[in-house]
Amino acid sequence: MNKATRKAVIAGNWKMNKTPAEAKALIEEMKPLVAGADCEVVLCVPFVDIPAAVEAAKGSNIKIGAENIHFKASGAYTGEIAGNMLKELGVEYVVVGHSERRQYFGETDQTVNLRSLAALENGLKPIICVGETLEQRELGYTETLLKFQTKMALTNVSAEQLKDVVIAYEPVWAIGTGVTATADQADEGNGFSREAIAEVYGKDVAETVTIQYGGSMNAKNADELVAKVNVDGGLIGGASLKAEDFSIIVKAASK
Ligand code: 13P
Repeated sequence: MNKATRKAVIAGNWKMNKTPAEAKALIEEMKPLVAGADCEVVLCVPFVDIPAAVEAAKGSNIKIGAENIHFKASGAYTGEIAGNMLKELGVEYVVVGHSERRQYFGETDQTVNLRSLAALENGLKPIICVGETLEQRELGYTETLLKFQTKMALTNVSAEQLKDVVIAYEPVWAIGTGVTATADQADEGNGFSREAIAEVYGKDVAETVTIQYGGSMNAKNADELVAKVNVDGGLIGGASLKAEDFSIIVKAASK
């Protein structure tokens, strides 16, 4: 195990929060606080906030991401957004398969895979979310599920393309609940995902993949989580809406 073989990525996932004007204001507030970070800093924002966010982040170390992407290039898919549309706006990352999309919008392992491929084909870096529910954990299926979700999401992704993939282990029971996985649980979950990648692509390749933890990660617990060998940064919900808290997490991942 060697953390030096991969870069830490701290990504905010704003979910359905902030108008374009509010996005601009929050990014202006964040910019000086995260300048000089020794990790990748990303903010994944609602589609309509993207132009304002890209403009506000210009000249800083903040990269802008989207929260979803459709898997078709164009066509009769009312309400959906294609990869080339995001690319043209200056988007670099995109969250794929978040558990809220799986839970409320019928996202499946297959569509997560197709969306990940669409992101890669458009030169966008997918942040692919995997994670077990509390029931699945209590039944003892965490390892099986995380490995299955990871492998399904990466179907037909080449070893070359994998360089642009970020995995985010987000236990569903820890999202927005204030219940964080312990650092050991986070490390174990991330480790299962890394093992799945090793089973398909080999151990050396798996050691280079950035795997984040997400789920009630905050300014207080970030240090302990990112210190774990398998935890290469985080996907941050609530705490990414507060400039000060987000910058403390960025600093924890920069040590
Ligand atoms: P919270 O940090 O609000 O628990 O959200 C985590 C998450 O879902 C990030 O994608």
